[in-house]
Amino acid sequence: MVNKDRPKEQAIGLDVGTSTVKAVTGDQKIIFPSVYCKRLVKSVWDEKYKAEGLVIEEIAHKAIEVAKHEDSILIRPIMEGQIRHSVAVKLVQEVYKRLDVKNPGDVILVTGLPYDVSVHDINNIEKLLTQTLGEARELVIYPQSFGTLIDVGLDSATIINIGHSTTGLLIVENLTVLGGGTEPKATDYIISQVRSHIIKNYGLISDPETVRDLIVCKEVKVGDTIVCNYINAISDGYTTVTREDVDSVTMDAINFLCEKIAHDVMEMHSHLPTMNLGCVQNIVLSGGLSKLQNPYNKEYIIKDTLEKELKRTLLWPEDALFSEANGFYKLALELMQGQG
Ligand SMILES: Nc1ncnc2c1ncn2[C@@H]1O[C@H](COP(=O)(O)OP(=O)(O)OP(=O)(O)O)[C@@H](O)[C@H]1O
Ligand SMILES: [Mg+2]
Repeated sequence: MVNKDRPKEQAIGLDVGTSTVKAVTGDQKIIFPSVYCKRLVKSVWDEKYKAEGLVIEEIAHKAIEVAKHEDSILIRPIMEGQIRHSVAVKLVQEVYKRLDVKNPGDVILVTGLPYDVSVHDINNIEKLLTQTLGEARELVIYPQSFGTLIDVGLDSATIINIGHSTTGLLIVENLTVLGGGTEPKATDYIISQVRSHIIKNYGLISDPETVRDLIVCKEVKVGDTIVCNYINAISDGYTTVTREDVDSVTMDAINFLCEKIAHDVMEMHSHLPTMNLGCVQNIVLSGGLSKLQNPYNKEYIIKDTLEKELKRTLLWPEDALFSEANGFYKLALELMQGQG
């Protein structure tokens, strides 16, 4: 059946991250965890799947559920912005399913890869996507953070994208990439500092996701999808660690991370021939962690700390979590209109 509301070509902006996959088409935004799980059913006592020896494969939220069973393997196919396992294409297949893509040949897909990726990697990813999804009408890959630049409507800026496992930096002047880099500290650095503190001082061994939820301390929801659950304490029934108990270690980790990012940005700027450039004057902050709020006064902690470090006001996309996917979607639309 032909969907009359939608033109035959479908523009999709895609941002496959270490923790979540984000995609935008029209006014639809989807997000789900970037995880895949495989499990071997060993017992007939499994209510749902009675056949012993059956192999179950799941992705996204269902994968997290399946991973609770014994004999399961949980794979995060994207690590530090790079494809580390070929099941990554299953995440893209899931995007197509959720966006109800009928014919991959109608899709104009725009996505991003890290600044420091090789031509070989780009070719391999293009090949992998084409082999598994079918040939798209157009597949265009930009450097990560370029989507955010387009989302905020600028031609020149330094973009800081604080993701889950990496902070991407990109310097663009008049839509030309002048430089960039990847800082291996991001959300998971703060999580690991707080998690170690809880283990050392309270003897509680908690999974990183629960620690992340304690740090964020509020429910983050996109449509029907919960990105972070609200919790204000972790407890094993005997020992309880509250958000207040980790305030100081959280702030120390945030200060260190922001100091490091600010240092990297200033270092990159110092290699430019002149400071009198749009990319030095405009600094854009994006990525999920940039939305972190102080749970008590609701101030944006990362943004405020980085602004102090960089001694200026930072620009901010309307939706810092989706800015990459949004910008890539805008670029896909431009390609689509160019075709028409
Ligand atoms: N409103 C929010 N407040 C605080 N943290 C948030 C918020 N929304 C998302 N996050 C967290 O920010 C982190 C980074 O999210 P993001 O989706 O940008 O990472 P990613 O793109 O998956 O990772 P990477 O870019 O490193 O591959 C995640 O741990 C996410 O849970
Ligand atoms: Mg990201």
